[in-house]
Amino acid sequence: MSTAAAPADLKIIPRDVMFGRGKSNPRFWNGGDPVATTFYNALSLTFPQGEAYFVQSVRHYLDILPEPLRTQVSEFAQQEAYHSREHMAFNRQVAGAGYDVKQIDDLIRQDIRDTKEEPPEVHLAGTAALEHFTAMLAHAWLKDPRHFKDCPADVRRLWQWHSIEEIEHKGVAFDTFLYVTRELTPFQRWLFRVMVMRSVTVGFWKERVRDLHLLFQQDGIDTPKTWRRLAIFLVFKPGLITQVLLPYLAYYLPGFHPWNHDDRALAAKVEHGLRLTEVIRA
Ligand SMILES: [Fe+2]
Ligand SMILES: [Fe+2]
Repeated sequence: MSTAAAPADLKIIPRDVMFGRGKSNPRFWNGGDPVATTFYNALSLTFPQGEAYFVQSVRHYLDILPEPLRTQVSEFAQQEAYHSREHMAFNRQVAGAGYDVKQIDDLIRQDIRDTKEEPPEVHLAGTAALEHFTAMLAHAWLKDPRHFKDCPADVRRLWQWHSIEEIEHKGVAFDTFLYVTRELTPFQRWLFRVMVMRSVTVGFWKERVRDLHLLFQQDGIDTPKTWRRLAIFLVFKPGLITQVLLPYLAYYLPGFHPWNHDDRALAAKVEHGLRLTEVIRA
């Protein structure tokens, strides 16, 4: 069962950085490729509301959590608040490039509203699952520079900054889940989190396919050819889904913990090249 924990010297640092204010991006900002661009636009559209939901789901337990987890939850919440703010700014650029994003925004609001009746433990387990999504995607984005190679520099920096912080706080929701469910048997706890991961995975992809249809329609390219190109993009070139497949499956192992794999060195290496301190506001 899960015995690992966050590293004792873990630092979760909310970096108050702004990207691309007052700038506009080309409509197909990712290498001129409508498929790659649309995939990332669809993901970014989920972040402001999705990350606010994550924070709400974890902060629900703030008062009962022991230290250092309680402090980590506050740092996680601050990081996610900055991520929401910056992806809202990025999403305004997407709208500025001519996309109508309001319909998707409304649908995501409704997706979250539809889960309202679930108990807080399910929201927490769902957040732990989706935080694993973001952590494994973050790792892939930082490790393989092809994902954001031909992008405006500010856009690349936004996604890299976000990825670094997702890695730092990747264990917070999971550790909160472990604490909140400490009275369950290890088997019950495992079953709970993997069942939720399964339904979160299905729901996440259903909703993203819906959003991708809506965005492709706006470019007049919602065709089998485009979906084939998307499949090639996700599976082979550069193959984001292939890159995250094993880390995803690891979540189903009884001994899974986000910090079984310490990837802070990768994050530190990318951060060194980002020179964020030059743009952090005083
Ligand atoms: Fe985030
Ligand atoms: Fe996160």
